Parts: sequence; C-alpha cells; structure tokens
Amino acid sequence: MKALVLIGGFGTRLRPLTHTVPKQLIPIAGKPVLYHVLDLLPPGVEEVALATGYKAEMIDAYVRAHPPKCPVRTVPEAEPLGTGGGMKNAGGAMSDPFYLLNSDVIAAVDLAAVLAHHSERGGIGTMCLAEVADTRPYGVAALGPDDRITAFVEKPEPEQAPSHWINAGLAVWSRAALDAIPPGRAVSFEREVVPNLLPQGLYGFRLARYWEDAGTPERLLNAQRMLFDDGRGGRGTIPRGALGTGPVAAAPGTTAEGASFGKYVTLGAGVLVEPGAHVENSIVMDGARVQKDAFVSSSILGPRTRVHPGHRVVGQTLGEAAEI
Ligand code: GTP
Repeated sequence: MKALVLIGGFGTRLRPLTHTVPKQLIPIAGKPVLYHVLDLLPPGVEEVALATGYKAEMIDAYVRAHPPKCPVRTVPEAEPLGTGGGMKNAGGAMSDPFYLLNSDVIAAVDLAAVLAHHSERGGIGTMCLAEVADTRPYGVAALGPDDRITAFVEKPEPEQAPSHWINAGLAVWSRAALDAIPPGRAVSFEREVVPNLLPQGLYGFRLARYWEDAGTPERLLNAQRMLFDDGRGGRGTIPRGALGTGPVAAAPGTTAEGASFGKYVTLGAGVLVEPGAHVENSIVMDGARVQKDAFVSSSILGPRTRVHPGHRVVGQTLGEAAEI
C-alpha cells in the first residue's frame, strides 16, 4: 500500500505566516501539521509521495532532516497543478488502491478500517466524510443506501448543499481514479473528476470522532486542542521553572523560567518566554521571544517574532520576524 499526500497549496488563509513557512510545517501539539497527518497511516505503508508545489524545497529539506516513520519522496510541481494535477504528477508509482491525504487535516481515523470498507464494497473509491454545520468551504456528499455517494458538490451555496457530510480530505482510491485525470494541465480533482467517477461506485466512510481542516488560524488552534485532548501532544508538561497548567509541548532549548502557561501551547526550539509573561492556546515558533509581562492568547507567533514587554497579543497571527 502506498499513499499520496497533497501538499502544494499556498495556504493563503494563514498569511502572513505562510509567506515564509508552508502551512504543513507549522508545529501544533509539538510537531508539524504534516507529521500528524503521516501518523494516521497504518504500519506497513511502503512509500508516501508528497505532491509538493509552494515552498517545495523547504518541505523537501525538512523531511530529509526529520525522516518520518514511513519512507517519503517529494514530487514537486513546476507550476501549481491543482489537486487533480498534483495527483497525476505524483501518482505514477501508486499502489492499487492507494491512500490520498490532504496535508492539513487533523482527525481521529483508522485508515486500515477505511481500506477494509473500500475492499468490501469494491467501488472506485472510499472518501472519509466529516459532519460540519457550515458546509460552504467544502465538497458536500449526498448519500444513498450503504453510504454510496450519489452526488458530490464542491463548495455549494447552503441551500444547494445535499447534506452536512463533507469531504474530509482522507480517502482510498483505485488507480483508475488517476487515469480519469486529464494530463498536462491544472485540474481540480473535486470539481472536475470526482463527479464523473460516481457511477463507478464512490462510498462514504463517516468519521465518528474529531476532524478539523487546519487551514485558518482558529481552526489550526482548534486542531491543536483536539490533539492535546486526545493525548497526541506528547507529555505536555510545562517548561522547567514555569508556572501554570499546560498542556505545553516544548521543543528542546526553550527557556521560560518565571513565565506562566495556560492550556494548549506549542513552543518551538530556542523560544524565550520571559518572567511574568503568560501564554495560552497558542503556537510560538522557533526563536520567538515573548518579553516580560506580555500576554499571548489564541495566537500564532511566527519564527523569530518578538512580543514587547507588557504587550497583549490576542487572536493574532504574526508573520516571521514581526515585532509587536
Ligand atoms: P488556502 O490557500 O488557505 O485555501 O489553502 P490551500 O492552498 O492548502 O488550499 P486547500 O486547503 O483547499 O487545499 C487542500 C489540499 O490540497 C491541501 O493539502 C493543499 O496543500 C493541496 N493543494 C491545493 N492546491 C494544490 C496544488 O496545486 N498542487 C498540489 N500538489 N496540492 C495542492
């Protein structure tokens, strides 16, 4: 079994941070989003092709320096090919069937069970579905008997949405799905290809526990909370000499003596949180500095950012090296 991970998007909803850091390398609950996605793959996956585009070199350098549990290979696109084009470009050596994962979804799912579900039904694909209240940003499935997907509409107006079950960005597809993607141009798999594949049998696999599309600052922080609550954030102990509850996932080389922490915090390497400062529900990336008596809540501080003494940062995303 092999896997294809789509990782070529621009991450526009996380700008300015994503001007310099690809979304998938932002650490949540102690490790980059991409590595939480790769953790979902069952043991025995032979190879993962990362269909890269935006900031492909950074992703390639990162996975070389920090090899994930399963062997990965990056397959860059010279220009953005969309989800379908990216699949076609990176899918040459895929197994039949293969796992297809978005690189920015945080979920509790047993992908081996999804594969079994797929094999039992014998269709062209099995798509994990998450139930959401607001379907507008997603692809929405209409479901028939045995959860066969009878219609699939990408980003419909609310009155046109056939259900509240949306494409969770985790699926098993037969190789034949790759053959259906037109070559040599940008293609949206969800808009241009998936609707045409329905007659060959596409089935839904309803996710029963948590799921989040970690594509906006609020959702990224929500995903971090879900991971910590599920015990996927490491030991979560606060740094030595600090006060408060945590959980905090701190990289080696953080200094936080005399600082305090609330729930759900990731601290990158070389972060300095000075005495009297407080951080909660936030991500503080490598080399950032939160100075004396500052207060940081529900925020993402990019690499080498600096929060001046006594400042309050609430609900903000700071791009690399920003000062406030
Ligand atoms: P936004 O710009 O904030 O919408 O984020 P995004 O660029 O990641 O877009 P979106 O979340 O809709 O993308 C879904 C998945 O497809 C993500 O895993 C993206 O990395 C991936 N993706 C989007 N466009 C491309 C592309 O052109 N090529 C490849 N290889 N992957 C893509």
